[in-house]
Amino acid sequence: MPTSLYIPSKRLSEKVTRQYKTPTFITDSATVINRIKTLQKAFTKKTKIYYAIKANYNPAIIKLLQKNGIDGIDATSPFEIKLAKKLGFLAKKITFTGNNSSTEELRTIHHEKVLPNLGSLSELKRWGEIFPNTSLSLRINPGSGSGEFKQLITSGKHVKFGIRKTELATAKKIINRYNLNIIGLHFHLGSGLYNTKKFAPAVKMICTLAPTFKNLQFIDFGGGFGVRYHPGKKPLNLKQFFTVIKKHLDPLEKNMGRPIEIRIEPGKFLVAESTCLLTKITSIRKDKSITTVGVDTSLNHIIRPSLYGAYHHMVKIPHTLPLTKVNVVGNICESTDVLGTAIPLGKPQEGELVAILTAGAYCSSMSSLYNLRPYAAEVLVDKKGVRLSKKRFSFNQMITNLGITGDI
Ligand SMILES: Cc1ncc(COP(=O)(O)O)c(C=O)c1O
Repeated sequence: MPTSLYIPSKRLSEKVTRQYKTPTFITDSATVINRIKTLQKAFTKKTKIYYAIKANYNPAIIKLLQKNGIDGIDATSPFEIKLAKKLGFLAKKITFTGNNSSTEELRTIHHEKVLPNLGSLSELKRWGEIFPNTSLSLRINPGSGSGEFKQLITSGKHVKFGIRKTELATAKKIINRYNLNIIGLHFHLGSGLYNTKKFAPAVKMICTLAPTFKNLQFIDFGGGFGVRYHPGKKPLNLKQFFTVIKKHLDPLEKNMGRPIEIRIEPGKFLVAESTCLLTKITSIRKDKSITTVGVDTSLNHIIRPSLYGAYHHMVKIPHTLPLTKVNVVGNICESTDVLGTAIPLGKPQEGELVAILTAGAYCSSMSSLYNLRPYAAEVLVDKKGVRLSKKRFSFNQMITNLGITGDI
């Protein structure tokens, strides 16, 4: 079972390039399966894993997760719900954690019969008015958050998510007024947790709040478990998160006199390290201080570097030594289309391949068609071989999918 970041072999990379061209996301099934098993082992069978589908909604990957023991899906939009259902998840195995939902969207969620996880007084009140006497879960903002970058923090004073401590009394009034049945409590601190410093007080807070909801069935401790964007980084010690949960959940269960289900909703932990984005070097520019390597992908396929300043390690294929630091830029007409600065790469040559690692989460799913360049192709690799899981758009498909009307 692989435990490191996925890097495709030279042979496989050349085969993928021949068959599907570049840029192409390559996902290694064995790494995905390994991450599921790692989570299950650390959190024990007691925990239900709801995959945060927004991390990567490639159906082949979701099917792989489903086949290997993922319990459910956490969706953020009606179409994510529809996709999860299409792939065989029952409504009762899907939660909806939207934000700033319109009333029309709340009606759709109700129609879909999935459990809403509401994170604002406005949504709670509107839901209660239209659907009194129904069950739901509450997204709580425990007061502080955590994440790899400040843009990835989703709890705390100045973020838009979750019902704040100061809003709880009003939330209770709304719940009582409309006889709402709170069966779940939830928090999500942010994306990229590497220790339990902020997680532990949040767990304590939510477990303290829990006994005031007499019909509570589960607590969802969110996702965000950190992954490696550099192969030199140690894997996350997941067990420490479960230990913290148990420390507060055991007395809670005693107090309530019954078990409370543990849920988590990881996205990136399950898929990020399994995938690389294979791209081709198109041009090389040598300045005095640094070499800039141009490639045939861009922020259209991997926006994390320009959006967050995120680092993605890269490996030239074939891997050669010595390594020198280069900047890597994409082919979109934006100065911010920089995929990496000071990346240690073997001596680059035009036409060679580069694998951009840890590209399985928030890369394909955040892709755009800017400059009318198509989405990258996607393939899944397993013992049986290489399978195309998402085709690159042709011009006609692009036009059709953009919903452009009128004669062209
Ligand atoms: C509500 C919620 N749950 C789960 C996740 C998954 O986070 P990650 O992919 O970091 O595990 C996110 C992502 O930000 C989220 O907003």
